[in-house]
Amino acid sequence: MRYRSLLSALTMTLAAPVVAQPAANHATKQVSASAAAGSGSAWRTAARLRRGVNILGYDPLWRDPAKARFQTRHFRIIKQGGFDFVRVVLQSFAHMDAQNRLDPQWLATLDRVVQEATAAGLGVIIDEHDFDPCSDAPDACEPKLAAFWTQIGERYRNAPDTVLFELLNEPHGPLDRARWNAMLRTLIPLVRATNPTRTLVIGPTRWNNLEELSGLELPKDDRNILVTFHSYEPFRFTHQGAPWAKDMVGVKDVPFTADDEARIKADYDKVALWSKANDRPVLMGEFGAYEKSGTPMAARARYTATVRREAEAHGFPWAYWQFDSDFIVYDIDSDQWVEPIRAALIPGRR
Ligand code: BGC
Repeated sequence: MRYRSLLSALTMTLAAPVVAQPAANHATKQVSASAAAGSGSAWRTAARLRRGVNILGYDPLWRDPAKARFQTRHFRIIKQGGFDFVRVVLQSFAHMDAQNRLDPQWLATLDRVVQEATAAGLGVIIDEHDFDPCSDAPDACEPKLAAFWTQIGERYRNAPDTVLFELLNEPHGPLDRARWNAMLRTLIPLVRATNPTRTLVIGPTRWNNLEELSGLELPKDDRNILVTFHSYEPFRFTHQGAPWAKDMVGVKDVPFTADDEARIKADYDKVALWSKANDRPVLMGEFGAYEKSGTPMAARARYTATVRREAEAHGFPWAYWQFDSDFIVYDIDSDQWVEPIRAALIPGRR
């Protein structure tokens, strides 16, 4: 079914602003198992997440469901491809009115996405991705982010516990340690008011930089927080030629080397030490190498395999950046996996 018809079906069937429980499937089984074991630890969430992919950040779907590139069947393709969860990338501020109320049609689209991913047996991270406006102007961002999490917290309070909330992607610039930690002191209680047992995903400053983990201040008694970092090092390799990245235009022919592999391993050793010392599980929520400036596929696949392997060796679930748009692992236009990248992510699967 295409999004258009699915959405009209949804509009008719969803009377209350709550995500409908999915039909019996893998995800619901996991929910009952974890409910029986009690709730509250992000370690359990981390153990079942494993392998994920970022989706929908730049899909026309959000403005007009009839123009969606991503279709319902892609959730099944992702699941059958060996992935366990999706990180749904949301730029919600563009869909708010002057009172910061989210557009009902946009919310209905999000309901459908969450419901269909869940029904396909995939975990879901709802990721608020207005990181640029929030970082440029934290004071203007904070009421919008609070409004987003108030509305989303209320709307998804009964969603299965396979649905996670990521408060904000990649704070950076003026949204520095002090300002981000202060914002978290507002946001976390606000979300906890409606979702006391849901796993939250929170990352440090400087674009979720692992070097900033020690500056992240989280409530000590809240053990249901999964800490996230992003892994684009070496940046000159992964972002060579990327037009949006600082100083990367014109950079080319940067190889991926054995020294780079060793550095990734050493970096992850540090993250794992931090994780153990702080008793906080860690998610590596984005990694990938830009493809549109001619970086050879073999080098991109080697980088991808290295990061994936090291993340798993260190016990970090991960999410590849991204399914469609750029850095792609799936080619929607020709309806097939980008095989070298998929094989680097999910080895041994056809
Ligand atoms: C941003 C994308 C960017 C990617 C890699 C993401 O967090 O949202 O716009 O392409 O990082 O730089």
